[in-house]
Amino acid sequence: MTVEKLNPTIGAYVSGVDLTQPFGEDVADELRRALAENLAIFLRDQPIDFAAHRRLAAVFGEAHVAPSTKPWRVPGFDEITRMHADENSTYVAGEDWHSDMSADPEPPMGSLLYLHTIPPLGGDTVFASMYAAWDALSDRMKAQLEGLSAVHDAVKAFGGLVPKGQALPCTSHPVVRIHPVTGRKALYVNRGYTTRIEGISERESEALLGFLFEHVQSPMFQCRFTWSPHAIAIWDNRCGQHMAIWDYFPQVRSGYRIQVKGEKPV
Ligand code: SIN
Repeated sequence: MTVEKLNPTIGAYVSGVDLTQPFGEDVADELRRALAENLAIFLRDQPIDFAAHRRLAAVFGEAHVAPSTKPWRVPGFDEITRMHADENSTYVAGEDWHSDMSADPEPPMGSLLYLHTIPPLGGDTVFASMYAAWDALSDRMKAQLEGLSAVHDAVKAFGGLVPKGQALPCTSHPVVRIHPVTGRKALYVNRGYTTRIEGISERESEALLGFLFEHVQSPMFQCRFTWSPHAIAIWDNRCGQHMAIWDYFPQVRSGYRIQVKGEKPV
């Protein structure tokens, strides 16, 4: 297996492995290491079916079935979400910077997105390192943020998209979390879900979140993945954010995503 970094901060291409077939623990170990070291990894030409997608997700843990994905689940496969956009779409999933399902009490540690159909141009996904975003803050700002918690509300992300009456999670998480594998600190607020920093005034919260939402968008923390048909992106939600670029309307972009159970952020 070959792992080729996109830049020093985030993202790597992984090649020399066939994920359509069962693979050994040695490959699973290498995939886990590649993800821990690079935050997001990308594999091309992997025409996986649902069974192979499940097998790949199991490398990272048990599947996370988020309450918010209910309307888009593949019948018979609760953990597989259809990710589809075409000429009838009025929105696409993940158009703003976010960490997947961060309003869940135990948000998914990672996500595996497989796209079989991509537009002729566009439809990239951008990823950003929240280690880098944290590291780049001044010591004074870090001291200000340490110990604070923020509310993540799935209504902000999905409110207008799910059937009326569907319960959506809302949870408070630390503003900076420690990654359970690497031990590194990562900033953990995102524009998609985070509504308020607790323990400070509404105006202070708005100003601080506004600054942090801008801060995480720096190109210094990013990589950008240009999809090809049957590519797979695997990312770690605990130390990264991402954003889907919908610049291809009315073209079709289609595939499936599985998320993997994570832990309560600390
Ligand atoms: C997501 O946010 O999970 C979707 C990302 C994408 O479609 O590129």
